[in-house]
Amino acid sequence: MTEVLPIETPDALKDPTWWRHAVVYQIYPRSFADADGDGLGDIPGVVSRVDYLASLGIDAVWLSPFYPSALADGGYDVADYRNVDPRLGTLEDFDRMVAELHARGIRVIVDIVPNHTSDLHEWFQEALAAGRGSAARERYIFREGTGPDGAEPPTDWLSVFGGPAWHRVEDGQWYFHNFAKEQPDLNWDHSEVREDFLKTLRFWSDRGVDGFRIDVAHMLTKDLTEPLPSREELTLIPIDGNHPLIDRDDVHEIYAEWRQLFNSYDPPRTAVAEAWVASHRVPRYASPESLGQSFNFDLLEADFDAAQFRRIVTENLALAAESGSSSTWVLSNHDVVRHATRYGLPPEPADSTSHTRHGGDWLISGGDEALLDRERGARRAKAATLFMLALPGSTYLYQGEELGLHEVADIPEEERQDPTFFRTGGAEIGRDGCRVPLPWTADGPSFGFGASGAHLPQPAWFSQYAVDAQDGDPASTLSLYRRTLSLRHELQAAEELEWIETGRDDVLRFRRPGGWQVVTNFGTEPYDLTDLPGDAHVVLSSGGPAGSSVPGETTVWIAPVR
Ligand code: GLC
Repeated sequence: MTEVLPIETPDALKDPTWWRHAVVYQIYPRSFADADGDGLGDIPGVVSRVDYLASLGIDAVWLSPFYPSALADGGYDVADYRNVDPRLGTLEDFDRMVAELHARGIRVIVDIVPNHTSDLHEWFQEALAAGRGSAARERYIFREGTGPDGAEPPTDWLSVFGGPAWHRVEDGQWYFHNFAKEQPDLNWDHSEVREDFLKTLRFWSDRGVDGFRIDVAHMLTKDLTEPLPSREELTLIPIDGNHPLIDRDDVHEIYAEWRQLFNSYDPPRTAVAEAWVASHRVPRYASPESLGQSFNFDLLEADFDAAQFRRIVTENLALAAESGSSSTWVLSNHDVVRHATRYGLPPEPADSTSHTRHGGDWLISGGDEALLDRERGARRAKAATLFMLALPGSTYLYQGEELGLHEVADIPEEERQDPTFFRTGGAEIGRDGCRVPLPWTADGPSFGFGASGAHLPQPAWFSQYAVDAQDGDPASTLSLYRRTLSLRHELQAAEELEWIETGRDDVLRFRRPGGWQVVTNFGTEPYDLTDLPGDAHVVLSSGGPAGSSVPGETTVWIAPVR
């Protein structure tokens, strides 16, 4: 494509507030669609499916990293921030994808990974070659070790993926990595690091990208003044803005600078923080002076439980109002067990440490099918999804959830890819199970994902979840998502939500603008709906036809009296 940069946003997509109530569909590019048949999904694959994306009724796509990467962490180890992995296509393919999506009214959000680079990034390679004390090492976090000959790491800190957080290089120095050892943390006190990310944000903004998802947004800045605390001491330091490693107040100096850059575009580029921080700290990331929006993972971490859902909605609407942002909602992404599966598992025992993020107890113990009630999981997932999509704010959907896909538990050890699996010696089974390539057709090689195989093995049961098996079937999960998204805009005229008391602690009911009502029955006993005014009636149900009562584990949307 010979477009002259910067690419103008089409007039139809210039509304600067679009993100407040957007439905954003997450594409994990290596597992979405494979156009060249090498087993890895790619950008031309996305282009080949733009009509499918448009048929869903989404407002934007968010692409997980598609940059050059050795895939030590599914692409979150970025070797070059301003390019496309040659296995996934070219910058021209990327431009074509943006143009095709924009032409269908779909915006594009890309993932920015600023906490760490890949160890193959030219900066890190330079740092290795230049040796201790060099300027090149200053861009990362290199330290001398402790103990005789410095053979012990500088501290006993653990990486998020398990195992030590320091790795020793050939000349004996150690570098810090919050995640895998192939993901060295950057030194955000360094002006070149700051400048280079501004360049990257400008690069993609100029290519017409509408917004950014900021990976581990709460970890960039660090206070590594010596002496460094031990692991135990670290856990005793409150996370209140001054913790050495997490959610420091000074990270917002970076985002204030980014915000100026975002606002220099028409419309302003948007950003959403992936910040796993305490709820009361979220508004800092979501404020208009910072990134503008932040993921809220509360629903994703909650049980299918009315009291928990109500508390989460109330709290997060208040937090969003406090920051001047809108709330965000999400039930599934590339880091967690798919919600259809989560809801079909027995509840975690109260004394277990939560493994929801990277595993789920069932998956950690190796995938015991007998514990999973697939139908119940699917029923609850649809009910929770219709509940979520009726809320004020913006919603993030993860590829494959519109097909009702379950987690794939039985991936053979030798085919696993997630570093959490390897770094915990298999104790955590990792995130591959939600990253298995999508089934597009019930038959054929890799269920229509590509012309040959898929880079993670697809189970036989994927066939019945394929897009072509659901397309046109009014009872399918895919049809339910499409119908819900086509009605959703009617509820989003304003951002108010008013609870209606139901007299039942397992039933939630609320009113949205225009007189819409939504009821979710989290229990198993039907909930009576005989109090509906005039000709108000159920127009949408997650569980098949609903008449004068809402069946168990079901959500209905009730259209106003006309
Ligand atoms: C974020 C990503 C996750 C990745 C990690 C390190 O949590 O969502 O997939 O492994 O950051 O980049």
